Amino acid sequence: MLDVTTQKIQDESRQGEAYAPFENDPNNYSKKFYIESYGCQMNFSDSEIVASILADSGFGATRNYEEADLILLNTCSIREKAEQTVRKRLNDLRKVKDNNPGALIGVLGCMAERLKAKLLEEEKLVDMVVGPDAYRTLPGLVEEAETGQKAVNVLLSREETYADISPVRLDSNGITAFVSIMRGCNNMCSFCVVPFTRGRERSRDTQSIIAECRNLFENGYKEVTLLGQNVDSYYWLPNSPEAVKPVTFAELLEQVALIDPDLRVRFSTSHPKDITDDVLFTMAKYENICKYIHLPVQSGSTRVLQLMNRTYTREWYLAKVDRIREIMPDCGISSDIIAGFCTETEEEHQDTLSLMAYSKYDLSYMFFYSERPGTLAARRYTDDIPEEVKKRRLDEIVKLQNQMSLESNQKDLGKTFKVLIEGNSKKSDADWKGRNSQNKMIVFPKTNPSLTPGSYVNVLITECTGATLIGNIVD
Ligand code: 5AD
Ligand code: SF4
Repeated sequence: MLDVTTQKIQDESRQGEAYAPFENDPNNYSKKFYIESYGCQMNFSDSEIVASILADSGFGATRNYEEADLILLNTCSIREKAEQTVRKRLNDLRKVKDNNPGALIGVLGCMAERLKAKLLEEEKLVDMVVGPDAYRTLPGLVEEAETGQKAVNVLLSREETYADISPVRLDSNGITAFVSIMRGCNNMCSFCVVPFTRGRERSRDTQSIIAECRNLFENGYKEVTLLGQNVDSYYWLPNSPEAVKPVTFAELLEQVALIDPDLRVRFSTSHPKDITDDVLFTMAKYENICKYIHLPVQSGSTRVLQLMNRTYTREWYLAKVDRIREIMPDCGISSDIIAGFCTETEEEHQDTLSLMAYSKYDLSYMFFYSERPGTLAARRYTDDIPEEVKKRRLDEIVKLQNQMSLESNQKDLGKTFKVLIEGNSKKSDADWKGRNSQNKMIVFPKTNPSLTPGSYVNVLITECTGATLIGNIVD
């Protein structure tokens, strides 16, 4: 039975995962921190920045929260359920604090930003509340909290991109890494809390992005995912007298692709209104830019899209899907969909289903609407779709997507894909797992002992489920 909120969230398997960097021997540090990340990939990436800042002030990472001097939860506010999960986790940590009263507990990320000092009143266990733009001040906040005071910094910034900080790769497979290229969001989709928790959009210096990607490649990584809430609006004006032209996302993609043909490039997330032909042609031009676009639609009804402030119509979105397929017929497309937004009629729900059927998504992240305090929708519209109706609509959306995912995988039977080996499959050490350019997970037996994670292989697909392709290595 599917989770009622979402059938599949991004990196669901990693939610709340505890991290410890491989390369850092905690014995070299005077104190230990433990961090769990929730929510989107951006939070996981931010935790790596936090790890770097803490390492510089003498904290090594541990996987065992019972031995930690500092326990951090990097939190998500996107839906109410995400916040409930964190509150439950804080409750679990009560025991840890009883056993180790000196341990400090900090809440980072979106929930810290949304609730600010109020979180300290609501959750007595919490010693520190730190918003997403305030991580540089963490060492000072820890010192403050060590004196027994509660420490809060939730200031948002118009400039902070942490461009100069080399993230400490946490629990990494050594092959794939996230690279943040921008922060914040200016879009103001009416349902979304992100513009309030992550602030104004700002892009990171192109050179620091390229340097980070090159460094990853030189250290054996074979894939980078460029991360931002809205990557297509990336915009960087180089700070040099001869630079007259800003760097666009298409140009950034090209520069990263040119680092080495063996370095795969992915990106997320694209806003349909901003993804340009330039981006699509750049993707088509370079083999190592993966043919996969996460293009959240949210709803298939133009009226609902308008209420959501998405700034495109159903027809405009569908034309974008057509354009992607025209330029890259083999491109994978995935989406985010919200069921039961304010005032959504049954007919408008059907519009979402028909748009999904037309777009033939390989994968979708599906949610029912969860009103978030302070958002435009919370202020302007009534959350008037009864919960059981939302859940039934979500069920229908999930059913259709599951069927389409299976069909999409069945179409791949008999095809051969270039796969980047990421590691052992979850189920068996006798099998590798890796993804194709279209971002589909592929599992296949280890037949050639000279292959290692990071190798590229061609895999012929012989079987599939709705979630995985299964095959064999071919020459
Ligand atoms: N309720 C339900 N889903 C939401 N999302 C964002 N805000 C909400 C909300 N209030 C979904 C959108 C977005 C994804 C990251 O989360 O589909 O694209
Ligand atoms: Fe939220 Fe819309 Fe920005 Fe995505 S684009 S983070 S949904 S406001």
